[in-house]
Amino acid sequence: MRTVSTVAELRAALPREGVGFVPTMGYLHRGHLALVERARRENPFVVVSIFVNPLQFGPGEDYHRYPRDLERDRALLQEAGVDLLFAPGVEEMYPEGFATRVQVEGPLTALWEGAVRPGHFQGVATVVARLFLLVQPQRAYFGEKDYQQLLVVRRMVRDLGFPVEVVGVPTVREEDGLALSSRNVYLSPETRKKASVLYRALSAMREVALKGGSVAEALRAGEGVLAEVPEFRKDYLAIVHPETLLPLSDWVAGARGIVAGRFPEARLIDNLEVYP
Ligand code: PAJ
Repeated sequence: MRTVSTVAELRAALPREGVGFVPTMGYLHRGHLALVERARRENPFVVVSIFVNPLQFGPGEDYHRYPRDLERDRALLQEAGVDLLFAPGVEEMYPEGFATRVQVEGPLTALWEGAVRPGHFQGVATVVARLFLLVQPQRAYFGEKDYQQLLVVRRMVRDLGFPVEVVGVPTVREEDGLALSSRNVYLSPETRKKASVLYRALSAMREVALKGGSVAEALRAGEGVLAEVPEFRKDYLAIVHPETLLPLSDWVAGARGIVAGRFPEARLIDNLEVYP
């Protein structure tokens, strides 16, 4: 595996075609590696990027303390059979005077994470567009863990006509259901035990759906589970359309449960298909 940190080195190291691309912010875990493995299976050449993107963090957020460990990440990617690691600095991605932003408009970016984190999806769309233009992948891999992000990227790719196939990969979880996340390292041991409450709430909603209950009943079941853990300060719990993310009053195939909120040490998000 080669590691490059400049656009010029990246260009020189890329093959003409057959590139599978996995963008990340590093501090890699098995969730990231699931994307890499899928990319490895489907593409002759795999590129991973590690870049903690300042544009997608809000003023009070964790940009400066976001966990970083490039040497460990490099070893994991090498072992996973990655061909090329692109790990640029901020000056390389956003040189002096960089002023362009990519904005996906509408409910897809205004709702949920977009409402809690203003500007977040503009930062994501801008960096992903720039990375796609630099890496020119045939396929790009995104986790369902960040379901709204996956939809925003899909929308941007369709609207702007990027010649990229966006592949969504199922969420990798710990044994108790907690979705793997680089931010889980922030959790104290006590909070870690409680952090499965997001998955348990989503699972309770799915159970109601599978037993023939209504959307309202499913939401009540989810709220009931969250109420058992008062340390979790909910931002939202909802059942939404899997493509528009608009709240549902009746079931549709693929209906998605989404949940987000804050523990004292970290903000967590999760989602699950609740109605097959
Ligand atoms: P990051 O949080 O590092 O995640 C990189 C990719 O890994 C994303 O597509 C994310 O959805 C996926 N991922 C994270 N945890 C996962 C899990 N438990 N199971 C499956 N996939 C998981 O998401 C970002 O970085 C950034 O916003 C980025 C797209 C790189 C743009 O800066």
